Amino acid sequence: MVTSLKDRVCVVTGAARSIGLAIAERYCREAAKVVMIDINPQVEKEAERLKEAGHQVKSYVLDITDQAKVLEVFEEIYEQLGPVYALVNNAGIVDQRPFEEITSAQMDQQMRVNVSGTLFCSQGAIRGMKENQEGKIINFSSKSGKTGSALMVHYSAAKGAIIALTQALAYELASYKINVNCLCPGITDATGVWGEVSKGYIHNLQMPREEVVKQFTAKIPLKRLTNIDDVVDFAYFLTVSGDYCTGQAFNITGGREMH
Ligand SMILES: NC(=O)c1ccc[n+]([C@@H]2O[C@H](COP(=O)([O-])OP(=O)(O)OC[C@H]3O[C@@H](n4cnc5c(N)ncnc54)[C@H](O)[C@@H]3O)[C@@H](O)[C@H]2O)c1
Repeated sequence: MVTSLKDRVCVVTGAARSIGLAIAERYCREAAKVVMIDINPQVEKEAERLKEAGHQVKSYVLDITDQAKVLEVFEEIYEQLGPVYALVNNAGIVDQRPFEEITSAQMDQQMRVNVSGTLFCSQGAIRGMKENQEGKIINFSSKSGKTGSALMVHYSAAKGAIIALTQALAYELASYKINVNCLCPGITDATGVWGEVSKGYIHNLQMPREEVVKQFTAKIPLKRLTNIDDVVDFAYFLTVSGDYCTGQAFNITGGREMH
């Protein structure tokens, strides 16, 4: 367990909005050196806002599927800020459609962003973690990675692959005292993924939005959708603590997923 994140380098991908942005903000409040990565240039505006509030922030507009560029950026982070302590592989994409309609390109895109992007960023961050014999890699799977979701076969397959990737990496890095875990949120309110998915359900199930929300909430034992803060709390716990946990896939689903 670390007592403070002060001046530790914490990298968050997909940090332009929603869950990734909220995790970056949490790290800022803990005085970490925060690196925000996103393909969306909005990440620069968010980083600027946080810098103006007095936090130590650097941002990169980067496509995490470009392995060469990813490795270059992480080399620069190492040289300019120091070894990465925590990497949150939050960037991800979702898509929703009947499985007969999924094209080769759509399948590849799900695997490239969600799975390969996670791998490439982990490769980039590992040098300093190995040298320091400490580090936390927090990947993002989903409830759909544990129990696949109808109309999201490609997303479910990619998120399932992230659980296996997490376990394999946890084995490979255990001797360096690097913890590798992943989070499996349920439907998280006020996020890009849920915005996209709910649009898909409204279209594919021919239901109004309120009915979609009602039906999904009814399946959750704790009777509410996941909040961004529920996810941030867990990511923070795994950053400062959880030293004896590795290779795990933690459900943040209000009991909707129990295995
Ligand atoms: N929101 C949910 O309901 C939910 C549920 C389960 C799992 N998750 C997972 O949590 C993570 C965050 O979800 P969210 O709803 O906050 O997502 P979001 O769509 O709001 O944000 C994702 C961010 O990732 C960025 N991104 C996408 N492709 C990228 C690429 N190639 N390179 C760099 N950045 C890229 C986007 O620009 C965006 O800013 C995702 O991995 C998602 O699959 C979300």
